[in-house]
Amino acid sequence: MQEPRAHWSSSVGLVFAAAGSAIGLGNLWKFPFITFENDGGAFVLVYLLCIAAVGLPIMMAELLIGRRTQKSVVGALREAVGPAWGVVGAWGVLCGFILLSYYTVIAGWSLYYFARTAQWTLTGFPAGLSTGDVFGAQVSSSGLQIALSLAFSTATVAVVYFGVQRGIERIARLFLPILFAILVLMLVSALGMSGSGEALAFIFRPNFAELEPESVLEALGHSFFTLSLGMGAMVTYGSYIAGNQSIVKASAVIVVLDTVIALFATVIMFSVIFSVSGMREQVGASTVGMLFISLPELFYTQVPFGRILGPLFYVLVALAALTSTISLLEVVASYLIDEHDVDRHKATILCGAAIFVFTIFAAISFSGAPFFSTLALFEGKTGWFETADHFVSNWMLPTGGLAITLAAGWFMTREATRGELVDGNEPGWFRYGVWRLFIRWVAPAAVGAIVVAVIFFGRDFS
Ligand code: TRP
Repeated sequence: MQEPRAHWSSSVGLVFAAAGSAIGLGNLWKFPFITFENDGGAFVLVYLLCIAAVGLPIMMAELLIGRRTQKSVVGALREAVGPAWGVVGAWGVLCGFILLSYYTVIAGWSLYYFARTAQWTLTGFPAGLSTGDVFGAQVSSSGLQIALSLAFSTATVAVVYFGVQRGIERIARLFLPILFAILVLMLVSALGMSGSGEALAFIFRPNFAELEPESVLEALGHSFFTLSLGMGAMVTYGSYIAGNQSIVKASAVIVVLDTVIALFATVIMFSVIFSVSGMREQVGASTVGMLFISLPELFYTQVPFGRILGPLFYVLVALAALTSTISLLEVVASYLIDEHDVDRHKATILCGAAIFVFTIFAAISFSGAPFFSTLALFEGKTGWFETADHFVSNWMLPTGGLAITLAAGWFMTREATRGELVDGNEPGWFRYGVWRLFIRWVAPAAVGAIVVAVIFFGRDFS
């Protein structure tokens, strides 16, 4: 027997949980880096446009499909659109599985860096220490990598185990305010640094001459990733919305929160980096460099109150990552719970364990372990970590997102979608019309462009 479906305690609960899902490593790690790579200003503006014109309408589409059907992604698409659409749902579950398998590894690094920075805070930053070497040593130790990921996976399973209200919502309500407070503290400190003016100009002064057409697609692809769209995570969270809780306002708040946090993080990182001469050239080299090589040292040599902010920063990364990993695990576990009648406790542990096997592959792919460092399904991508990230960001999220857009815009009836978006006796005609225009035309065209670029032109956005 199925238990009655669990619901968020209120629409505030939904906002916390969904914002927790959206706000993650994408905001703190990916966004600052791609903004740097794409020369700031114009890229940021394009990104904001993508978030508003494509991300927001799809966020509403996913939540409404979930709310309408009260089922997680496979059952939801089947019921809302048609039996064949279960395949799209299964694609989403698979995507959650793969994404969680490698996301956990980077999340695990935040635990290591918390411990290291806490140590430096207490005993002082060792003179002459190379943070590049510190990073290299931790990432190439397979045992350490597996231990860190295991710690993080266990925490993820523990939260999802307790269910929608007592697990997911409770943790999000507790963590998001802490995360926000730490970020604001860091922002205040960063804005006082000498590089902050240059950083703000870099981020907010658009120079369209430097914008490549490819950057537009990269901004679009990232808007999917950062909002947790394209794989049914928001369909699943939407299925825990009770009938009387509104979707439209909640979606707007979730999207704004995610965007503000990404911008805060970017301002903070660039203010720090631009305050040191020569650093700007140095950090460009790698995605992980900014967060795990440059910043740790700068906390102890440059940032005001850095001795306190250093460890706090990695607490922030860990909290942001955990509210995302629980959402990923929920996508996979809720499939077993809803479609195969497995009880939540069993489903959570089973899925957590199965995914962890692949997390081990991701964790050891940095240490040159034989098979996993040579796995080369995609050109230039070695190991499970790179392969999975490439596959998810380039193939799975855009194709899944396209399917969901088409489902909501073209395959569901106007009455069905309207019934979910327009509440009670609110007129809402205009608002609904705008949404429908975007979900039928703008979003599919934009997402379709990514799919075409990846499939036919071999583009790489990860
Ligand atoms: N949005 C998350 C981040 O920015 C990553 C992510 C993508 C995600 N899809 C997801 C998280 C689905 C949870 C569920 O880090």
